[in-house]
Amino acid sequence: MSRRIHFTVDGQSVEADDGQSIMEACDAAGIYIPRLCDAEALVPQGSCRVCVVKLNGHTVAACTQPAEDRAHIESDTHEIRSYRRDLVRMLFHEGNHLCPVCEASGQCELQAMAYRLGISQDAPYPYLQPVRPLDASHPDIALDTNRCILCGRCIRASRDVDGKHLFEYVGRGIHKRIGISAATLAETDATIDDYAFSAGVCPVGCIIRKHEGYEVPIDERRFNKQVIGSRIEAKLLDDNEEEA
Ligand code: FES
Repeated sequence: MSRRIHFTVDGQSVEADDGQSIMEACDAAGIYIPRLCDAEALVPQGSCRVCVVKLNGHTVAACTQPAEDRAHIESDTHEIRSYRRDLVRMLFHEGNHLCPVCEASGQCELQAMAYRLGISQDAPYPYLQPVRPLDASHPDIALDTNRCILCGRCIRASRDVDGKHLFEYVGRGIHKRIGISAATLAETDATIDDYAFSAGVCPVGCIIRKHEGYEVPIDERRFNKQVIGSRIEAKLLDDNEEEA
């Protein structure tokens, strides 16, 4: 049995197993830490930095940083909310995120995160409006890389769960993008049943399952009804109710 450790998050006491990441421990305690590149069943890679917190005064990624006994963690502070807003804003400016015409609207984690963080339409940076490809060659799946935020969730899902290595990062800096293992998706062994194409892997509208578009009407989708992170926070409410 692993050793139990104790630390605080914004002054709230949290108990965790030694070795758990800050995010895992906070999730279990009902404290939501925003995230975009992390997802259930995938190995954390710590790339989006939206989960930034301060651990004893030092900024770290909560998804990859192990929790420490007697640590003081700051998460929901003015400074950290500001970092997160800047990171999410930059994602909107780097890609082509046209929410009103995106099939993922209402279930897109980027859009939902913007709402949660209170990001307005002010545009502090220029919109780069890159020219990016759309691959609709596969009979069941389309890839619209205009909406890609380089979270790498499809890379890890294909590599670690499906064992197929369909995706990889190519290029560097502002030219970095997700590449596929053949000239087009139709030339790979991708199938609609791959975990990489299941709901919840792509956080935005880059991976599109054909034949299923708009099955759930806009306004009736997950984030139309719930703020992102509220399921994790609801766990705390449930826990409190049990204690009462
Ligand atoms: Fe931790 Fe992306 S969720 S860096």
